[in-house]
Amino acid sequence: NKKGYPHFMLKEIHEQPEVVNKGIARYMKDSQIYFGEEFEKIDFSKIDNIVIVACGTAYHAGLQGAYFLKKLAGIKVDVEVASEFRYSDPFINEKTLAIFISQSGETLDTLMAMKLSKELGATTLAITNVLGSTISREADIVLYTMAGPEISVASTKAYTAQVALMYMFAMYMGIKNKKISIEEYNEYMRTIAEFSDRIEVALENKEKIHELAKKIKDCRNGFYIGRGIDEKIAREGSLKMKEITYIHSEAIAAGELKHGTIALIEPGTLVVVVATQKDMIEKMVSNIKEIKARGGYVIAITKENYSQVLEVADETIFIEDINDMLAPLLTVMPLQLLAYYTAVEKGLDVDKPRNLAKSVTVE
Ligand code: F6R
Repeated sequence: NKKGYPHFMLKEIHEQPEVVNKGIARYMKDSQIYFGEEFEKIDFSKIDNIVIVACGTAYHAGLQGAYFLKKLAGIKVDVEVASEFRYSDPFINEKTLAIFISQSGETLDTLMAMKLSKELGATTLAITNVLGSTISREADIVLYTMAGPEISVASTKAYTAQVALMYMFAMYMGIKNKKISIEEYNEYMRTIAEFSDRIEVALENKEKIHELAKKIKDCRNGFYIGRGIDEKIAREGSLKMKEITYIHSEAIAAGELKHGTIALIEPGTLVVVVATQKDMIEKMVSNIKEIKARGGYVIAITKENYSQVLEVADETIFIEDINDMLAPLLTVMPLQLLAYYTAVEKGLDVDKPRNLAKSVTVE
């Protein structure tokens, strides 16, 4: 049931405010993060390294999660693509907490990576959306993303739920490691509690984004750039675009542009710029100028207080002024909508893009 929306993807995009609320509520007890009895049994004193393994969009959620863990809990985390993991001689032992992120809980590469990690002695934690899925049954501990069924092949709400859950996990670890104070923890909790309203606001840009989609629908190529956490979200935006619009797109760290990719920028080349991080905003403005000097067409996503971006980009989409770490949770909304409306304008089968399956149960 599409509940009046033309596609499941648009319906699922609009479910994100509620999904974040539900996801948070599921793991709160007496205003504190509580992941349940099984989780509390993990002996964190014996864990000295964390690895996150996943595929596609879930891998991108893992990249966000690693960033949160580093910032909030001071933990260095390796994030690996599941299909590579088994063949990479991974450093896994009894002191490893191995986290597997999977919407379906059936992705075979992710499952095989989990089995190997178990054999090597790791504690395995699954983050999945499907109760009773294979990955949830095989893992030592499971946390559910509570996003509800996701029908569209392109993942949207499951991703947001995964990122929100990783944020909670990082806060939990931050308190445990005494890397964040109770005051900071309360402040972060307040921010996340208000998050669903902010997502609603981010989705209000949809008419404008629809107009932009009409302009870019005939592009053959596009680039997505960002720095720091914005580079990770650029990857997700690029994947969404390519999988449902078939426009070839590539995400790169903005600083890497001049090491090769800038050779491809010619008049009209689409470049989506994600620029939300305060300490890197001037560098991003320079990047936009470099692209403009070669005739590129720049759509920038930035925070409402960065007028310097508005001055140099062709088109600017604003998100609310939120703390830098959480900006990706809002930035992904316009990126999803841009891919969605571009596919609609191209007349493509948005919910079932060619050659793709909702869950990949072959290696
Ligand atoms: C992209 C997308 C895929 C999945 C990937 C992993 O929109 O949906 O990249 O994220 O196939 O699937 P799960 O999360 O089910 O393991």
